[in-house]
Amino acid sequence: MTTAVRVVTPEEKSRLQEIGELTALAYLADGLVDNAHPFVPQLRDAEARARHADLLAMIDGEKATGAIVGTITLVPPGSPFIEFAQDGEFELRMLAVSPMERGRGIGRTLTRAAMDRAVEQGARRIVLSTMDTMHSAHRLYERMGFARREDLDWVVEDNADGTVTKVSPEHLEQDPPCAQEHVRLLGYSWEP
Ligand SMILES: CC(C)(COP(=O)(O)OP(=O)(O)OC[C@H]1O[C@@H](n2cnc3c(N)ncnc32)[C@H](O)[C@@H]1OP(=O)(O)O)[C@@H](O)C(=O)NCCC(=O)NCCS
Repeated sequence: MTTAVRVVTPEEKSRLQEIGELTALAYLADGLVDNAHPFVPQLRDAEARARHADLLAMIDGEKATGAIVGTITLVPPGSPFIEFAQDGEFELRMLAVSPMERGRGIGRTLTRAAMDRAVEQGARRIVLSTMDTMHSAHRLYERMGFARREDLDWVVEDNADGTVTKVSPEHLEQDPPCAQEHVRLLGYSWEP
């Protein structure tokens, strides 16, 4: 099957709707979030990602007119979508592949496209973070040359609006009764 990866713009309303639904579905299907989780509206809001970052999508079909099969967001320095990148680093976020299209190399191709685009824009380091249950993603990133960086791990608590607040890892360790509300995110980095 022929596929193409391209940037999707804020004007492409029906494509943005499709990407938002696919992103939420990919996370829901893996049990990473449930429907009530405050992060789900953010996953669905592909338009915000298109406005404030580089929203990439892979589209099936000879002339890229088919269905969206996967997406990734490349976040440049200064974007409100930066979560933990520092000092001019680029960040990768919300990689998602349709549950029906997994294992075909789509995640890898999208990640490679985002890495290439970051390098074109002058990136000297790309960082990303994952939940510890994202085993497919860990393997994918490590096979693509990302280094696991425990020093970049961070612990968050979810806010009602879908954003997260960073809390210190020490707090997690010292305060087990609250541990359920806190999530440890695992850091990775890559340099060209
Ligand atoms: C992670 C995800 C994007 C992978 O998409 P994909 O298109 O299936 O991945 P690919 O086919 O490109 O596979 C790339 C690598 O991932 C690994 N992989 C893919 N599916 C896997 C699975 N079910 N179990 C274990 N490893 C898997 C493979 O090792 C593969 O590398 P290899 O073929 O060289 O061994 C997809 O599973 C997904 O959308 N997950 C939910 C959202 C998520 O976790 N996002 C990460 C955000 S940080």
